[in-house]
Amino acid sequence: FAGAPCVKERTFIAVKPDGVQRRLVGQIIHRFERRGFKLIGLKLLQVSKDLLSEHYCQLTKKPFYPDLVNYMTSGPVVAMVWEGPDIVKTSRMMVGHTNPAEAHAGTIRADFSFHVSRNVVHASDSTEGAQREIQLWFDGQDLLNWDCIDQSVTS
Ligand code: TYD
Repeated sequence: FAGAPCVKERTFIAVKPDGVQRRLVGQIIHRFERRGFKLIGLKLLQVSKDLLSEHYCQLTKKPFYPDLVNYMTSGPVVAMVWEGPDIVKTSRMMVGHTNPAEAHAGTIRADFSFHVSRNVVHASDSTEGAQREIQLWFDGQDLLNWDCIDQSVTS
């Protein structure tokens, strides 16, 4: 619509092992779909420690890092790429504060969790971070650039 920014932006979203184990995958995907964002890539995987240390390369020296590794490798993760205008900023708002106790009501972390060490979902925190994480988690050939064929649905 007129005046709206229409920059195609992509971000990396992951449902962490607690979210998968608590059967929250559908509800989390639903929030991105109802916002109007487009799903570009999706997979369920068991994360390796190597992948995690690259993904969280700025955190490997933090005291909580060993617990973070145990948590993130405790079960499968659902990794996704979503696309839409301003999606990096908007998805961080939808996900909420890192610490669920400080997250606003209505955000995913506030609605589904209460502790920073089990905060259900990941969302890239910058466009550069999103590009780096998408490349790290996905092969380019597994990302689909699709258009809506039904004109009654917005693309
Ligand atoms: P961080 O990148 O700071 O936050 P975000 O996930 O919101 O981008 O931290 C990565 C993850 O590390 C965070 O989602 C949960 C975990 N973590 C802890 O377990 N304890 C902590 O004190 C912090 C800051 C993070």
